[in-house]
Amino acid sequence: MNEVVTKRLENSSLPDWDRSQKPRLGGLWAFQNQRLRFLEQLRQHGDIVPFKLFRNRCWLISHPDLIEQVLVTQNKKFIKHFALRYLRSFIGNGLLINEGQSWLKQRRRMQPTFMPSMIAKFSELMIEQSNKLIDGWQDLETVELHQELSRLTLAIATRSLFATDADDDASEVYEVLKEALAATNARFGSRFPIPSWIPTPGNRAIRRAIHTLQSVIDRIIRKRLDSKVLGDDLLSKLIQSRDENDATAMTSQQLRDEVLTLFLAGHGTTANALSWTLYRVGKNREILEKMRAEWKDALGDREITAADVPHLKYTQAVVQESMRLDPPAYIMGREATEDLELGERLIRTGDTIFLSQWVTQRDERWYRDPLEFRPERWLEIDSSEKNRFSYFPFGAGPRVCIGNHFALLEFPLVLATILRKIDFELIDREVEPWPLVTLRPKGPMKAKILRLD
Ligand code: HEM
Repeated sequence: MNEVVTKRLENSSLPDWDRSQKPRLGGLWAFQNQRLRFLEQLRQHGDIVPFKLFRNRCWLISHPDLIEQVLVTQNKKFIKHFALRYLRSFIGNGLLINEGQSWLKQRRRMQPTFMPSMIAKFSELMIEQSNKLIDGWQDLETVELHQELSRLTLAIATRSLFATDADDDASEVYEVLKEALAATNARFGSRFPIPSWIPTPGNRAIRRAIHTLQSVIDRIIRKRLDSKVLGDDLLSKLIQSRDENDATAMTSQQLRDEVLTLFLAGHGTTANALSWTLYRVGKNREILEKMRAEWKDALGDREITAADVPHLKYTQAVVQESMRLDPPAYIMGREATEDLELGERLIRTGDTIFLSQWVTQRDERWYRDPLEFRPERWLEIDSSEKNRFSYFPFGAGPRVCIGNHFALLEFPLVLATILRKIDFELIDREVEPWPLVTLRPKGPMKAKILRLD
């Protein structure tokens, strides 16, 4: 650490974690068992609130200005937090977990692949897979929306990564990934989290599932490298990707870690976002009808394309509002690598900072009637400008989600494709959020399908 900074902060009169009063809210037990409520209660105590988790000195930060400081202005003073880092032993060192120069190099290599112009070519497969999903739905059949949409987003992710000519490989990845996700969710949903290095049945199940997934991905990569035939899928782009300062390609290990990370970071989040969006519009029929009117105006009777998406302002507002109220990434964290001042507090090296989309995006200081699902708020002038960092479903700053354009293209395409051909009635009117790795529905989200064709 720079000596001048150390000296200044040692002399700081601001209270650090030890000298700040901590609300008594039940600590680890409350975090594990009533996580959303716990975060909301912490917020009641201020915009920067200390608490303890395991042995870690933690802070919940809720004010947009402080969020900007952590993610953008002072981002170099942080690395990812302990819980995420410890996923490394399971999923390797892909973009989500990587740090420093190694992260920067990988991010520079991969960024061009995820630009909107590159992502647009996946629109056809997004529409094709959505059509395939609803073709399997019978009139008056009851389906479980979250399960169906997870199938869809996994099919879209596998085909974007490995193209359609790898159908056998894709379906194998699909099956193995399902097991890996079930094992991971079972572990994170457990009331008593046990460190990943202890060989409990839960930890062994995740390791086994991830190991199988890694072998399948390795085989696909090897086959692709041996064949020397590259196409338009993400894997081909990753194989070809180079950093502008370094012409070397990624190693097979890097490729595998990045592919696995893209799967894990991209599939559950998109399935959850789509599920919550259908749930919200299922409960607000007039919103569904407004979206349909927009599609009728813009598309007539033709199929939607990627070029239509920027013009579908109301549909985009629905998606934005859905990710405001039910953010798939509901919490994120950082660890301070040096002492710093933040919001009238002294953050010490090693302190953990949590930022919660769930908390900040439901704060009445930034959103009028925050618990109301009202897409119109995004169409009102200046509403999104009011405070840029009061809305951060994809994070922000240098480590903003690399898949955000992918997701924001996928959502309108999937919604329009499904909801122009299908109507549905929610059977479960009240579905609770379940804050595991991402914010998923707790229990089934059942709906009766009514075909419109
Ligand atoms: C609704 C959908 C999604 C949401 C809400 C979401 C959310 C996020 C958030 C909040 C972060 C930042 C984490 C942090 O800074 O600690 C992130 C990072 C990341 N996301 Fe997403 N994501 C979504 C979809 C996707 C998709 C579709 C992909 C892949 C195609 C993806 C791949 C990644 C990767 C690789 C990172 C790490 C980026 C880096 O650190 O350089 N995400 N995501």
